[in-house]
Amino acid sequence: MVKIGKLKLKNPVMVASGTFGYGIECKNLINLDKLGAIITKTITLNPRDGNPQPRIFELPYGMMNSIGLQNVGLKRFLAEKLPELKRITGTPIIVSIAGEKISEYVNIADILNKERISGIEMNISCPNVKGKIISKSKTDTYNVVKTVRKKTKQTLIVKLSPDVTDISMIAKSAALAGADAVSLINTVPAMIFPESLSASRRTSITKSPVFGGLSGPFIKHIALRKVYEVSKSVKIPVIGIGGIMNVKDVSDFLRAGAKAVEIGTGNFIDPRIPINIIKGLRP
Ligand SMILES: Cc1cc2nc3c(=O)[nH]c(=O)nc-3n(C[C@H](O)[C@H](O)[C@H](O)COP(=O)(O)O)c2cc1C
Repeated sequence: MVKIGKLKLKNPVMVASGTFGYGIECKNLINLDKLGAIITKTITLNPRDGNPQPRIFELPYGMMNSIGLQNVGLKRFLAEKLPELKRITGTPIIVSIAGEKISEYVNIADILNKERISGIEMNISCPNVKGKIISKSKTDTYNVVKTVRKKTKQTLIVKLSPDVTDISMIAKSAALAGADAVSLINTVPAMIFPESLSASRRTSITKSPVFGGLSGPFIKHIALRKVYEVSKSVKIPVIGIGGIMNVKDVSDFLRAGAKAVEIGTGNFIDPRIPINIIKGLRP
């Protein structure tokens, strides 16, 4: 059993936000009841179309995405997606949220107070939207987490960006502001010239570079180091994310100090990866 805030997980393996839809899309692919928790696609107050295509690129050791937080918005999420997900599984549901301003995070957290969910993951680290990334500043991180903390008793996980000089400092601010846990890392900022990809992988003829975030096996060792550094500097649980594909990867993250993990890109390669890992973990 793994404890994160008030939340008790039957195993340490969760599915990462944005890589598992709203959970319901995957109901026929795997047994959702086996997962430690489901973290739903980041939602914002209003629906978002996301960035123009192309926005997903397959690469030799992972992928780059530039989705830009496409989502149905809080209202539809609460009316359609969450009730359906709760109907089909008893697995803890953690709702990922984002906002353009502190007040948007607070509004969403306030509305989520009325819902029976297992926690909130504050995505303050998405590299694919305009405006600044909150988790690049310890002051901004402190302010948004503190303000949301005052509004909610839900277990609060704060998701951090790797794109900083000292991630421990940011994690400490989140902890000081009342986060129950930090999760890291979000994707690593990157760029692609789409036409430079081989013909078989080409998704468009655009000549402009596309900015996005890298994920998958080639970020694992970046993530591992950040998790190690953060684990040494905060007392709250650290959730490791980045390139996890198998039991060995999970063991590395646990050894680096993580209490639990999230699987992201692995779900696109084979949605059975989280379940296979859970089966392979020693009880
Ligand atoms: C296509 C795609 C969409 C993503 N969307 C979100 C999102 O909506 N919210 C979020 O917090 N992270 C999002 N992420 C980041 C992942 O949750 C995860 O932090 C990152 O991909 C690193 O883990 P991985 O290497 O296992 O994929 C997304 C990643 C991918 C590949």
